Amino acid sequence: MKDAESPTIYLADYTPPNWLVEEVHLTFRLAPRSTRVLSRVRFAPNPAAMSRAFFLEGEELTLISARIDGAEVKPEVTPEGLTCAVPDGPFLWEAEVEIAPEANTALEGLYLSNGMYTTQCEAQGFRKITYYPDRPDVMSVFTVRIESDLPVLLSNGNRVAQGDGFAEWHDPWPKPAYLFALVAGDLLALPGSFTTRSGKAVELNVWVRKGDEDKCDFAMEALKKSMKWDEDVYGREYDLDIFNIVAVDDFNMGAMENKGLNIFNSSAVLASPETATDANFERIEAIIAHEYFHNWTGNRITCRDWFQLCLKEGLTVFRDAQFTADMRSEPVKRISDVLDLRGRQFREDGGPLAHPVRPESFKEINNFYTATVYEKGAEVIGMLKRLVGDDGYGKAVQLYFDRHDGQACTIEDWLKVFEDATGRDLTQFKRWYSQAGTPVVTMTDSYADGTYTVTLKQTLPDTPGQTDKQPQVIPFAIGLLDPSGAEVVPTTLLELTEREQSFAFEGLKARPVPSPLRGFSAPVVLDHATDNAARAFLLAHDTDPFNRWEAGRQLAKSALVAMIGGGQSPDAAYLDGLRALVTDETLDPAFRALALSLPSEDDLAQAFADAGRTPDPQAIWEGREAMRSAVAEVLADALPALYARHLVTGPYSPEAGPAGKRALTNALLALISRTDGGAAARAQYAAADNMTQQLGALSALLGAGQGAEELAAFADQWRHERLVMDKWFMIQVAQARPEAAAATAAALAERDDFTLTNPNRFRAVFGALAMNQAGFHHASGDGYRLLADWLIRLDPLNPQTTARMCSAFQTWRRYDADRKEMMQAQLERIAALPKLSRDTGEMVGRILG
Ligand code: PHE
Ligand code: ZN
Repeated sequence: MKDAESPTIYLADYTPPNWLVEEVHLTFRLAPRSTRVLSRVRFAPNPAAMSRAFFLEGEELTLISARIDGAEVKPEVTPEGLTCAVPDGPFLWEAEVEIAPEANTALEGLYLSNGMYTTQCEAQGFRKITYYPDRPDVMSVFTVRIESDLPVLLSNGNRVAQGDGFAEWHDPWPKPAYLFALVAGDLLALPGSFTTRSGKAVELNVWVRKGDEDKCDFAMEALKKSMKWDEDVYGREYDLDIFNIVAVDDFNMGAMENKGLNIFNSSAVLASPETATDANFERIEAIIAHEYFHNWTGNRITCRDWFQLCLKEGLTVFRDAQFTADMRSEPVKRISDVLDLRGRQFREDGGPLAHPVRPESFKEINNFYTATVYEKGAEVIGMLKRLVGDDGYGKAVQLYFDRHDGQACTIEDWLKVFEDATGRDLTQFKRWYSQAGTPVVTMTDSYADGTYTVTLKQTLPDTPGQTDKQPQVIPFAIGLLDPSGAEVVPTTLLELTEREQSFAFEGLKARPVPSPLRGFSAPVVLDHATDNAARAFLLAHDTDPFNRWEAGRQLAKSALVAMIGGGQSPDAAYLDGLRALVTDETLDPAFRALALSLPSEDDLAQAFADAGRTPDPQAIWEGREAMRSAVAEVLADALPALYARHLVTGPYSPEAGPAGKRALTNALLALISRTDGGAAARAQYAAADNMTQQLGALSALLGAGQGAEELAAFADQWRHERLVMDKWFMIQVAQARPEAAAATAAALAERDDFTLTNPNRFRAVFGALAMNQAGFHHASGDGYRLLADWLIRLDPLNPQTTARMCSAFQTWRRYDADRKEMMQAQLERIAALPKLSRDTGEMVGRILG
């Protein structure tokens, strides 16, 4: 359907469902091209409804037969669903439909992936399985029978029967259809068990294809840790006899929290030291936790409608971040999250795709699984916690679980428990959910007679469809240092509620140095006129680890902007500060590794755009290269010893400690390789017995313009490991020089082992191209053209992944006339396709504006 023809859905139009579902029985007779789905659904009128009209969503289904209370009926079927005359009171609906899992490349509904049947129903995939009221506020108890010769047959809840060629599952917890799941395949399990704090034994399994069974241990441990953590920190116990995790190769997202049967992209669950990097291990731990935590925040309490998506996602991201901070390093987690927030969410919030944390309209809900809903949604919860305190947060959350268990809720319900538990009025706070755009907080200060005054002013930028915004509540954490570097005012939370407000600190002996927005206490852009001396001072003395890193970051950024835009040589204050920090053995190696990484090309492009200048991607790339070489030269005397001191040898452990050291040594290796001809990296490559060090060495070599031999050896060694081969595809595009990036991606996409229908492989090549800023934006326009060519090929097969990847073009207006014109032409070329998907149509339409 063309974008213009797709209807827009509005939050304001919400009405309760006409019919509720008391129970559902499903029978699946699995066959690749002709699966039969039999449904028996008990409907009852909803007393809260305004009508008894009967409509069931259903797409791409062949209706074989339908009955009401046993009598055959002939419903009126459209491409979106069916209507039918129904009784006044409760009735039994029975239908049989046929579907073709094998033909399903969209990976939504029931599909086949490497011989295994699997489902993906969030958000609106269940309607591709059978006719049903496919909306989250219709919750019901599901019983499922699967008929198939495949050995492993799984669904939600507890297993109630099993025999030759069938299995039956019953889920006692009412749930919306989007949490339904089914898996059937020739799978192996890594088994485990967990005893809940009330003494209930839970059977655990991680199910994988044969050959992957040696890559499940870490996921199993992460699951147990998550189960324990949710009991300890949130008082949440697991509520079924069994919890299954399944790894699937073809999956659009990271993973899915189906009740009792979490389905994962295999990249988010499989790990062994030889095949997965430290970053992969950390991500797996976080995603396992995230999906598990959804059992309470998402499943037991779900969303009334899809506009409330952040109710489950923002909260669950917040919870998984707390978990990671507890398992690993809190400052390192915070810094990584802010990097990601600024990199993805601020960009989204500042461009044509900006939308509120709770959107008010959409055409395709799949397009709203965004950094804004997830990451800004989590930031909003963090602010709420900061404002009401840890105690208030704990009370409110417990009230939420007590009051709303078993319900489909709204943001209003969520905020009300905070108001009731803490007495705080959240009317103004709620604007964080409805006003899009990243607030800019401008800070000025003055000092006289022992009083230091901070003035904060908030500016709320216009975003598509939104102007004249009201001031938001901004929790602004600040600390003050005296000129010797000692902290004279510890972290204090200022609450900015007006457009402009002043706050005084009295009784100071000298003008202090402020450390503003500590811990990144609100997702805002801080505009504070400061200089490199003050930044270097904070880099050396701040007690807040986030702000210490931030000071270094700001130094790097201003040095880079001066180099790129003004031809200056690398800033000495930055290089000195960096040396002090990197060689400071009291600091966590992971933190030092983060300090060594430069602001991204996209970050710098945005910095130019913010300053009203047109970013030049080629100049930005050259500037970062020059800065890296300068760092490598200036630190050359210290690097080899540092590298040797932290190099991890001996048995691999994915724990934060050794992982931090590997992050640091890999960062050092990239610098060393610029001056030693690649000797150290080749040595690390040859000695590596784990993927972190192998890939780190390969990356260092490629970054220094070498490594052709190692690249070939790598492919030879890992030919049969598809997740490792994804890394091989990705690194070549990511590390390609600007003029070679598009050609590299194009050549890789022609290989036999490039599979268009596998989202991981597609993203490995084209996600990497979009990330390689200087390559994607190369003046030839080849990057734009190539990406558009492949998005056009992918759209008929997999609209969801195509639409997500269109966001590579979202910053098009920031560039020069030539690039703008070329990007616009590609977007228009996509938009003009006669059979463009609703997903891609909406995205391209919004990006073009
Ligand atoms: N709900 C999933 C998660 O966060 C994400 C997802 C959305 C997966 C849509 C598949 C499809 O955790
Ligand atoms: Zn989630």
